[in-house]
Order: sequence, then C-alpha cells, then structure tokens
Amino acid sequence: PLDLNVELPERQDAAQRLKISIYFATWWALNVVFNIYNKKVLNAFPYPWLTSTLSLAAGSLIMLISWATRITEAPKTDLEFWKILFPVAVAHTIGHVAATVSMSKVAVSFTHIIKSGEPAFSVMVSRFLLGETFPVAVYLSLLPIIGGCSLAAVTELNFNMIGFMGAMISNLAFVFRNIFSKKGMKGKSVSGMNYYACLSILSLVILTPFAIAVEGPQMWAAGWQTALSQIGPNFIWWVAAQSIFYHFYNQVSYMSLDQISPLTFSIGNTMKRISVIVSSIIIFHTPVQPINALGAAIAILGTFLYSQVNCHLFVN
Ligand code: 3PG
Repeated sequence: PLDLNVELPERQDAAQRLKISIYFATWWALNVVFNIYNKKVLNAFPYPWLTSTLSLAAGSLIMLISWATRITEAPKTDLEFWKILFPVAVAHTIGHVAATVSMSKVAVSFTHIIKSGEPAFSVMVSRFLLGETFPVAVYLSLLPIIGGCSLAAVTELNFNMIGFMGAMISNLAFVFRNIFSKKGMKGKSVSGMNYYACLSILSLVILTPFAIAVEGPQMWAAGWQTALSQIGPNFIWWVAAQSIFYHFYNQVSYMSLDQISPLTFSIGNTMKRISVIVSSIIIFHTPVQPINALGAAIAILGTFLYSQVNCHLFVN
C-alpha cells in the first residue's frame, strides 16, 4: 500500500526539481542567444554603456506594457520597497555594465571563463562579510575553480586588463546583487518576475546619466551610422535581439532565484557558461590554445564538484 505521508514530500521534491530544471534550461538557452547578439552588436558598435542601457530599457518597457495590459499583475510596492531595492539596483547596474564593457574588449568566452569563478566570490562574500561558514569540502572545491580560472586567464591569447577586471567586478557585484535580492524577495508578495522588472526600471534610471556621461549621444550617433553602413538594416534587429533576450534570460533567472539559494544560483550560472563558452567559440571562431581550454575545463569541473558537495542546497 502507498504510504502517502512519505510519498508526498518526495513527489513535491521531484516536481520542484523538474520546475527548476526547466527554468535553468530556458535561462541558459536565452542567455546563449543574448551573448551572441550582444557580441555581434559590440563588434560593429563598440559602445557597451549604450547597449547595457538599451537592455534595461527593453526590459522596463516590456514589463510596463505587460502591467498596463494586465498580462502580468503589477506588484504592490511602497517607498520602503524601492529604498531597499536601491543598493540591489546599484549592484545590478555595476555588474551588468562591467560584464558588457569586458565583452567589448575580449572574446565572449574569456569573459565567461572569468565569470565562472562567481561561486568562489559567493562563498568568500558569505564567509568574510556575512560570517557564514561552510564545510571544508566546499572550500576545497573552490581550489579548482580559482586555479582553473587563473590558468585560463594567464594563457589567454587576447588578454586585456579592462576585459579581465570588468569580468571580476561583475562577479563581485552580482554576488551582492544575488544575496540581497534573495533577502528582498523572501516573504514578500513580489514575485521573482516582478522583482526583476522593478530592478530593471531602477537600474535604467541609475545607468542612463552615467551612459550619457561616459559615451554620449554624439559618439552613439556617429557609431550607429558606421554600424548601419557596414551591416545594413539587420543591425537594428541585432540590437533589438540583444536587448530583448537580455531581459528574458534575466527574468527567468530571477524566477529561479526565487526558488533557490544565491549559492545555487551562482552554480547554475557557471554551468550556463559552458554552453555560452562553447557556442561563442564556434560562432566567433575564437582561437583557443589547449592549455587555455584546460584551465576553463578545470574551473568548470570545480563548479561541478562544488555542486556535488552542496547538492542539498539545490532545493531551498
Ligand atoms: C550582463 O550583461 O549583465 C552580463 O552579460 C550578464 O552576466 P551573467 O551571465 O552573469 O548574467
């Protein structure tokens, strides 16, 4: 006879895992498309501050329209909510611009190899700034992540300091963003999807004046003309694709973050980078040396080991 008391939590657990797996697969697929169009745009139009702003603008517009037409129910927020969201939006803005600036200077694969170190940043921030402790196995599994990333960085053929630092800054900023987003979403009526929408809107407000100060309309107009004359009208579609896919992959990632711990999020994000690294190397014909690939492989393997050590964190 079926013992429903035992079966039910197990079934719920399996359903939860299936839901998160579907979120993860969608997040990764949308992210690959974003990365390809983002790099195609940056190759022709090297203005990462504007492309970052457009990504946030597209997301804000999509969500404002879906609230106005009631496709999605608008969240009920108060001033307190926006105040608490402000530092999260600052971290999101910094992490986003830094990653995009990085990708404008180096191969997409290089940015993502460095960004595969995010779980190590997550553990270090949680340990040293929040005082959380982890089992020794967790710290040990970070060694291949850090070692692999370092090996990949020092053997990178097209190493560029801005590209490297951008990816490192992005790692740090996104760890703060994830930890504080999770705290902000916990016990609140705002869903992951709406939380990310508010984050986009606030980040857009923060980023716009900086984008104008760093690059500005004059540069953009001249660059836009050049890109249009080189690529043709398709260039506009590339910009639209990178902006829209940016919003949707982040939206799905926040729907996952709503269900999992920030640490699991970082692991999922690193695993995502395998598909981004492989697909961008193929599409952009990025030259890779065997030792460089070995470094990336060790880092990714480290993340896999880390996820095994932490498998209980997968359902939070
Ligand atoms: C960005 O532009 O925000 C980065 O490309 C995103 O980095 P992620 O892969 O960590 O989301």
